[in-house]
Amino acid sequence: MENRSQWGTRLGFLLAAMGSAIGLGNIWRFPATAYENGGGAFFIPYLFALLTAGIPLLVMEYTIGHKYRGSAPKSYGRLSKGLEWVGWWQVLVSFVISTYYAVIIAWALMFAYFSIGTQWGDDTQTFFLSDFLQMTDAGAFGSLVPNILIALIIVWVIVLAFLFRGVKKGIEVANKIFIPTLFVLFIFIVIRAITLDGAAEGLNTFFEPRWDQIFNGQVWVAAYGQIFFSLSIAFAIMITYSSYLPKKSDITNNAFITGFANSSFELLAGIGVFAALGFMAQAQGVGVTDVVQGGVMLAFVVFPQIINEMPFLSDVFGLLFFVSLVLAGLSSLISITETYVAGVQEKFNVSRTTSVAVGGGLAALISLMFATQGGLVALDTVDHFINNYGVALSGLFEVVAIAWFAKSLRDFQNHADSVSDIKLGTWWRICLGVITPVVLGYMMIQNLKAEVTAAYGGYPIEFLFNFGWLVAIGAMMIGALLTIKKWPNNDLEFKAEASENKEVAQ
Ligand code: ALA
Repeated sequence: MENRSQWGTRLGFLLAAMGSAIGLGNIWRFPATAYENGGGAFFIPYLFALLTAGIPLLVMEYTIGHKYRGSAPKSYGRLSKGLEWVGWWQVLVSFVISTYYAVIIAWALMFAYFSIGTQWGDDTQTFFLSDFLQMTDAGAFGSLVPNILIALIIVWVIVLAFLFRGVKKGIEVANKIFIPTLFVLFIFIVIRAITLDGAAEGLNTFFEPRWDQIFNGQVWVAAYGQIFFSLSIAFAIMITYSSYLPKKSDITNNAFITGFANSSFELLAGIGVFAALGFMAQAQGVGVTDVVQGGVMLAFVVFPQIINEMPFLSDVFGLLFFVSLVLAGLSSLISITETYVAGVQEKFNVSRTTSVAVGGGLAALISLMFATQGGLVALDTVDHFINNYGVALSGLFEVVAIAWFAKSLRDFQNHADSVSDIKLGTWWRICLGVITPVVLGYMMIQNLKAEVTAAYGGYPIEFLFNFGWLVAIGAMMIGALLTIKKWPNNDLEFKAEASENKEVAQ
């Protein structure tokens, strides 16, 4: 009998999966993405992406992990030897993401501290870019920034401490603390935001549908991109997490719960952020559209401004907001890091302690690069390329390989149905075999077109090559190299339990 770590309870697994999904992407990526891509009208492509790609892929990844019971490379390898590579590729994509994701959490941690007494002063942009990041010209790294370094060390110590303790005593416990706390804090934030003057105007701006945008291919690309990042799909995470599920665990229902919980949180974040933006716009006598910003600038420049404008208890609001970012980020970073901890542990036959120390240690070391004065530009570049040519591209390989080459969908459907309350139908196979590959293929073409038309972010070409293309292609290549080493104990020789059909009767 295998002696694989397992979640203690179903709720433990669900909280961990939600903890992975709900992350920085929900709070700083979603609101601006939705607004920039049609406002209220964005919800149509977004829901379509959730129902045709997000949830069906979650079901598929949960099934792979549950059926083959291994880290992503091992599970893919057991499915078909040629696919082990996709597993490593996704693990390496996660490795890269973890190196900069940790730094954003470190910023949030520092900003939680700065919010006490609103230490960022009146000019929040100068504070963030010059005083805090001590930014240099694009392409130069400069030196390490002490404040960021200290916070980054704290972040890695927390993440690795939980990972050292294992699945049940570490990851599950972390999520049982972080996720309920995050929900409570966030509810406070949203209630406070929607009761501010001007909130209604912010929400009108957010929800007002610009229907013409529905016909814009770019909007659909944005919706699929958001769903992939936000649901941690093609990150090797959900396969790893579901490999720790006990045999008799519902798959499909869990996927629906994770998907809807994540989107609900995302919607809540959109409401909170835009209500707050509406308040600030009114306080400054400008339109909401004049104050919207996306990504990093929204969290670290605009939010501090909003906090500055608040009539009372502004410090508390600031603290709650940045602590929420930290909690959402930490629970995702734990899951991202677990992918390579599990992969290294199994492939190199080492203890969890060794693989956490080596894998986590290496990621922590590389993350120092983003704690330098040039960190923001490097981070923005790596994030753009690894998402488009790591997450989305490997996701495309994943569905095409499984649906078209390995032809495993029907088998997976039987497996999922044998343990789940909700039974999958033909719709599930159509979503994965036709709709998702077509949309992702289109997305790749659109992204590549954009890449050759203009240098991303206006950054120097050489820089984009080294930190964009090389990183994304490197993940793919190193993934292939890792397949050369043999698995210990013929680990890929795995017979999925012939009990699948029996399980139906259980
Ligand atoms: N799913 C995680 C996020 O949204 C990675 O940030």
